Amino acid sequence: MKALILAGGFGTRLRPLTCTRPKLMFPVANRPLLDWVLGELSKNGITTAILAVNYMADVFVRYFGKSKYGMRILYSRETKPLGTAGPIKKAETLMSEDEEPFFVLNGDILSTIDYRALYKAHLDSKARATIALHEVEDPSRFGVVELNEKNQILRFIEKPKSGEAPSHLINAGVYVLDHSVLDIIPDGKEVSIEREIFPVLANDKELFGYRFESLWVDIGKPHDYILANKVMLNTIAAQNHIERGSKVSRKAKIIPPVAIAKGTVVEADAVVGPYASLGEGVVIKRGSRVENSILFPHAWVDCSASVKNAIVGEGAIIGSWVKIEMDCIVGDHAIIDNNVTLTC
Ligand code: GTP
Repeated sequence: MKALILAGGFGTRLRPLTCTRPKLMFPVANRPLLDWVLGELSKNGITTAILAVNYMADVFVRYFGKSKYGMRILYSRETKPLGTAGPIKKAETLMSEDEEPFFVLNGDILSTIDYRALYKAHLDSKARATIALHEVEDPSRFGVVELNEKNQILRFIEKPKSGEAPSHLINAGVYVLDHSVLDIIPDGKEVSIEREIFPVLANDKELFGYRFESLWVDIGKPHDYILANKVMLNTIAAQNHIERGSKVSRKAKIIPPVAIAKGTVVEADAVVGPYASLGEGVVIKRGSRVENSILFPHAWVDCSASVKNAIVGEGAIIGSWVKIEMDCIVGDHAIIDNNVTLTC
């Protein structure tokens, strides 16, 4: 089985951190987001992963190379943004080694969906496309579907106004497509699968839905990213991951679950966790507190500071008695002076 992963977005909602690395390489529980995605695909029997890359393409090629987790990794490089359907058409020759249906995934989604069951549901329905559907409380930020009793998608509505959504079932950004879908995607231009392709298939009664209830988090905004890190620490990483080569004082308090990478220093009277990811070489000085936050490699938190529900970029310096909270992003190498409070 093959999977095409959309990995070329600019990740504008997570700037400035996406100015220096693609969103899919952001650490989640100290592993790149895309690394988690590939691990799940491999566990589900996918043998070839095609990365559709554009923005900072070389970062992916350098990190993942030609194979990962026993899967072959191929790259489809775009020279301009092609949206969410254009990259599928661009990769047509790579997909055409056989005529089997293939998976397409938004690469910024963490889920434990049963890909085999989704594939089987697609074959059983004889549809041209099957969308994985997840139920959420507030569907207004997503593509929402109206389904009939046979799981056929009748309507597809992008980001409905609140109160106007036909259901709480949203497009989870994971699909199985038949080869024939490639024929209706225009070549060489930016095309949205949600706005231009799915409505056509729904109209032709060729679009089905597959509901699943397992873990699903998408990473778009800072709040989602912090939540994804929390969920992964909680469910998949489950316990503390304190790597060898980190120096955690016996007088520091570590509240699980946390991920602490090698080269990290946590001094006495510091409190780390719950839900803190400290990247390689991070320093947490005496008396500081880090909770529900992600600190990129080599971030430095001075004495008695507090970082809560926040993201701190690589090499950033947080002064003493600083307070950072509420989905704040501190950019790479930023310096926050002593006694400053940051809230968003
Ligand atoms: P924002 O700019 O913050 O909206 O983020 P984004 O660029 O990631 O856009 P969005 O969340 O809509 O993208 C969903 C998925 O599609 C992500 O995995 C993106 O990497 C991917 N994606 C978006 N645009 C393109 C593109 O032009 N080419 C490719 N190959 N992937 C894309």
